[in-house]
Amino acid sequence: MSIHKKEIKKITTHVLHAMKLRGEKISMLTAYDYSMAKILDAAKIDVILVGDSASNVMAGHETTLPITLDQMIYHAQSVIRAIDRALVVVDLPFGSYQGNPMKALDSAIRIMKEAEAHSIKLEGGAEVVESIQRILSAGVPVMGHLGLTPQSIYKFGTYSVRAKEEAEAAKLIEDAKLLQEVGCFALVLEKIPAKLGKIVSEELDIPTIGIGAGPDTDGQVLVTHDLLGITKDFHPRFLRRYAELFQVIQGAVENYIKDVKDREFPNEKELY
Ligand code: KIV
Repeated sequence: MSIHKKEIKKITTHVLHAMKLRGEKISMLTAYDYSMAKILDAAKIDVILVGDSASNVMAGHETTLPITLDQMIYHAQSVIRAIDRALVVVDLPFGSYQGNPMKALDSAIRIMKEAEAHSIKLEGGAEVVESIQRILSAGVPVMGHLGLTPQSIYKFGTYSVRAKEEAEAAKLIEDAKLLQEVGCFALVLEKIPAKLGKIVSEELDIPTIGIGAGPDTDGQVLVTHDLLGITKDFHPRFLRRYAELFQVIQGAVENYIKDVKDREFPNEKELY
């Protein structure tokens, strides 16, 4: 008797392009570990981002800057082990690609080889284009990231909405076209006016994935821990919380503590 494993249609960069062509929105969420990635993949998320937001969410840093390439590879390895369907994109961390195309290529190759990831993402436009080209020359798919770029927080000083002024909006459009021209397969647009999100998405052939960039980007991305209400005290306008898991988990843990203290756990049925 032969066992037929159900064929799973894997999401590739080509599938994302086809989704844009037929007007089907792309869903993307972050994951940094095996258990969460397993849940997202089972829910049929299209793209999983192993974001450098792991620096905040997993490690408790104030910014994304401290996370290292080794740490990103560890997170990516854990996520990749869980995935049957989603496309996995891994962030190149701060300091692993800026200003040195050969270093950028080495960093991207380490992620692809050691984590067996599917693609990488990096922040910036014209200033990182040589790094992008070098990575692409090795056959590694690259996702761009424009608008609010958290790795440059100390340059901008705030996490406020970007490209509200005409000159900055024009530069963003120019950068977006450049990233498409050199071969990026998609582009994250973070915290920009919805009108600009629409213009960029209409002008590009590659898919745009927005976070705080309005409803007209080709897809949406959120940090999973924000969407699930695991992170507390973070309420930007663009964030919709689909659960309040901080309270749910805290309640469960409080019940467990009470049962232990009251000698209610374990009971007769829970022992050998
Ligand atoms: O690191 C991250 O989570 C990201 C998303 C906010 C797009 O880059």
